[in-house]
Amino acid sequence: MNTFKKNIFLLILVSLFINCESKTNLSDIQIEKKVDEIIDQMTVDEKVGQMTQIDQRFLDTITDLSTYSIGSLLSGGGSHPSVNEPQAWLDMYNKYQSETLKNRLGIPLVYGIDAVHGHNNVYGATIFPQNIGLGATNNPELIYEISKATSLEVAATGIDWTFSPCLSSPEDYRWGRTYEGFSSDPNIVENLGAAAVEGYQSVETETGKKVIACAKHFIGDGNTEFGTGMNGLVDRGNTILTSEELKEKLLPKYKAAIDANVQTVMASYNSWNGIKCHGSKELLTDILKIELGFEGFVISDWQGIDEIPGDYKSDIITSINAGIDMVMVSGQGQPYKKFMKLLKESIQEGSIPMSRIDDAVKRILKVKFSNGLFDSPLVTNESLDIIGSEKHRDIARQAVRESVVILKNDGLLPISKEISSIIVAGRGADNLGMQCGGWTINWQGGQGDITVGKTILDGINNSVSVDTNVIYSKDGSDLSSVSGDLAVVVIGEDPYTEFFGDKDSLDLLKEDIDTINQLKNKGYKVFVLLISGRPMNVADHIDEWDGFAAIWLPGSEGDGVSDILFGDYPSTGRLSYPWPIQAEKGANAKTSDLLFDVGFGL
Ligand code: GLC
Repeated sequence: MNTFKKNIFLLILVSLFINCESKTNLSDIQIEKKVDEIIDQMTVDEKVGQMTQIDQRFLDTITDLSTYSIGSLLSGGGSHPSVNEPQAWLDMYNKYQSETLKNRLGIPLVYGIDAVHGHNNVYGATIFPQNIGLGATNNPELIYEISKATSLEVAATGIDWTFSPCLSSPEDYRWGRTYEGFSSDPNIVENLGAAAVEGYQSVETETGKKVIACAKHFIGDGNTEFGTGMNGLVDRGNTILTSEELKEKLLPKYKAAIDANVQTVMASYNSWNGIKCHGSKELLTDILKIELGFEGFVISDWQGIDEIPGDYKSDIITSINAGIDMVMVSGQGQPYKKFMKLLKESIQEGSIPMSRIDDAVKRILKVKFSNGLFDSPLVTNESLDIIGSEKHRDIARQAVRESVVILKNDGLLPISKEISSIIVAGRGADNLGMQCGGWTINWQGGQGDITVGKTILDGINNSVSVDTNVIYSKDGSDLSSVSGDLAVVVIGEDPYTEFFGDKDSLDLLKEDIDTINQLKNKGYKVFVLLISGRPMNVADHIDEWDGFAAIWLPGSEGDGVSDILFGDYPSTGRLSYPWPIQAEKGANAKTSDLLFDVGFGL
């Protein structure tokens, strides 16, 4: 064991020993007392450091963590250690935490990541279905188990905090983040979001450190007006609602998350009635902290304060005074040293009262104490095997099964496992990256074998009898003789994240339609499986299909789809979004404009 690892091991042994001595579930009063003791000793620089979050890729030097008492690091999408494998993630966490602990008061770092459908940045982690599929299960107990399993994998790499669950209730499907919402119905989101918070925060490491959840994006992220967003589309646009409408429609899901003891809330990029959420005191303080009684801390989104009208210094003053407690500076745009300098200036000139700074820092320190970070921040590698474990993959496979929504079945399902031959076709049939979607290994996801998992084709091969002839044909063109009469065709969307998925049309790809037509023209019956982050325009084509199911973005356990195709399990998935004839009409389409209503599934 080299010196570095020996030191880490000794540090962990020491922290375990201290922990055994001092491990107590501190009461809120004890925590308040400890927080007050620390904050009374803190300099302005140290308070500013605690309010600063940097993406680890953009650290100038690791010693900045201790020099500036940096409060938090994150790994944004794709922000990996040099080698993307669990041990390297754990080593990276322990390295940064060990350096941070050298700061004058020994205040630990809190490290955040988007573990939004599993520990999805980490190669080999279990990738669960994206939220739109989990909404179709409408199974809160399952979502609790998924979130708990995710946190176990997050904690195994040392990381403290997941920027999840997303509590969007998306209405306009042209929004690239539709799939991050459980449902367009805020009531479904309320129910499943609370289960997710409880699942994420139910996990404690062997050294007593808990995982922190984050309700996002506060508020109205999925309810913006088309055309008001980035590039004249949807994302980060303007949400137009009266105060009463906002409180009645969008607040209950956040109230439920707060009642489930969510420790952090992330501010949203969008505007509410023309005011950026990141700069709205009415939203972040009056409604969230006072009216809803939220006692955790508010994190900004990635460079979210930069989008407030005005220069960077005024952005800082406006957002902190509005109620942002920690700023995800990131360091990719504005340098974090510039942020800290301007924040300090703003405090010293009285533009931001010290009482606001102390409130923010107390909130941050309270969360760090409550989650065991002061007791035992460093983590041993004894839990790494849980990452991508069979147990977790089984939970994911169950979630895939329960997320499949059968929308048409002209007698094709269940398919016999003794079938003599079956064609498996389409761009998505053997494409793990496509079935995982965005936020997987990299920010925008990727194509093909991006991680460990089973494709739809793998699942079919593993389900049929040894005598079955499974023929894979990506575009259906290379099928000489007609063998058998059934083709399963997997079509859909390439991976995207955030505004990269904003579109003004939700038509299917021409090449997908061509593949299906090729097979129909050769006399095959086709069962179409759609991989997508939202309802799409299928109305003009579905009459030619002999069967159709929405499988959303199932993640790494694609064999869960076969469990339904071959009838090993009943199909229980039901739409959590209404499906209009013209998908662009979104969730507010009139009933007469619907192809399938919410709750439908065969
Ligand atoms: C992104 C997303 C947010 C995510 C954050 C950190 O821009 O809006 O959902 O948690 O940045 O990656």
